[in-house]
Amino acid sequence: MNTLAVVGLQWGDEGKGKIVDLLSLQHDVIVRCQGGSNAGHTVVVNSEKYALHLVPSGILTPGKINVVANGVVIDPVALVEEIGNLRSRGVEVGENLLISDRAHVVFPYHKLLDRAQDAKRSGSDKIGTTGRGIGPAYADKYSRSGFRIGDLLDRGFIEKALLPRIEEKNFLLREYFGADEISAEETLAEVAKAAEALRPHVTDTAVVLRRFIAQDRKILFEGAQGALLDIDHGTYPYVTSSNTTAAGIPAGTGLPPAAVTNVLGVLKAYTTRVGAGPLPTELEDETGERLRESGAEYGATTGRPRRCGWFDAVVARHSVALNGCTGIALTKIDVLDGFETIKVATAYDLDGQTTRDMPASASAVERCVPLYEEVPGWKEDTSGIREWKDLPARTREYIARIEDLAGCRISMVSVGRERTAIITREGK
Ligand code: IMP
Repeated sequence: MNTLAVVGLQWGDEGKGKIVDLLSLQHDVIVRCQGGSNAGHTVVVNSEKYALHLVPSGILTPGKINVVANGVVIDPVALVEEIGNLRSRGVEVGENLLISDRAHVVFPYHKLLDRAQDAKRSGSDKIGTTGRGIGPAYADKYSRSGFRIGDLLDRGFIEKALLPRIEEKNFLLREYFGADEISAEETLAEVAKAAEALRPHVTDTAVVLRRFIAQDRKILFEGAQGALLDIDHGTYPYVTSSNTTAAGIPAGTGLPPAAVTNVLGVLKAYTTRVGAGPLPTELEDETGERLRESGAEYGATTGRPRRCGWFDAVVARHSVALNGCTGIALTKIDVLDGFETIKVATAYDLDGQTTRDMPASASAVERCVPLYEEVPGWKEDTSGIREWKDLPARTREYIARIEDLAGCRISMVSVGRERTAIITREGK
């Protein structure tokens, strides 16, 4: 068995899309296992920029099979639109896209409730979600009141089953949120139409994936979001509603745990976060602004400016351990070009005690003061470098320090947006 999972080790936006796009060249099948259209995977191919949300990044490589597996929550309307946009740009989307009949559906009411819920919350209660209906859709899945893609294709069933659900959602929207009600007929018409357009792609993807494994085809699992947004191990409640670590892959695909053989964690050379929640190394000053501008740190899904800060090794260690990483891809090292010195948080001071582990509660993480080590920066422009040996000595020292602190080998270094802007490090 030869599979690879590519997962985010921070708060998402580590540059997984680019790494998956690149690695998809060496794989046959690319699989999304969790999350939904909250994800924004930016991929640049031949100077063309694509922002993918639900479709796996492998779609940009002809000849690859792309699977949206059962753990993903699918907004059929958004997916049809995304497919349409890709096709209009000449990207083939046909038999190369498979969608699980067990994946849960994000309905328009999930999006309304997501936005109404976050708008009603005040101050530190706000999560700052992407508004894509992710939380309410997963909540319905786990409270056993959701619908799956397969249900949507059974018109007789869904026509009857959706009505009581819409009544319940309308009660909430009207009575609790003081919002407008939604029409059952319009909801059904809109979503069922989109589902029909998806019908040719819908199948039992678990069976298909098992067959691919038996045929020894190379499978790449494309993670969405990052470990610190994991529903169990992230900075709860400021997280997304799925398991974003490699542990989410078996449940999200129907494959056994042993099907995940290699895990490549993606780490950005500094830290960013969108939305609310603790971010110990956040810089609300000129340095943070410099990282945001030179790293173009604006959300691919919502366009929100990302909060920026120095690299946090407590986060990296936590995430490497959770994912059982067998390697790391370090991205955006070029954004650090020209800094006189660079800081790295190696531990936190929490209420007078030094801790190297990520505390469970968000309020404790909020109180953490990063303990920094300062390393010399480099003056050179690294964006044109393609060989490990050509990197400035100080860049290599910075990378070695991160590797040391994270406890895992860095096997790839990304120095720009293009597929070709990558340094692959030989050896073990
Ligand atoms: P939700 O996933 O839309 O419910 O949002 C919950 C939190 O996860 C918010 O802080 C979002 O900004 C964050 N989030 C969700 N998806 C992504 C992503 O793909 N990249 C970065 N942050 C994300």
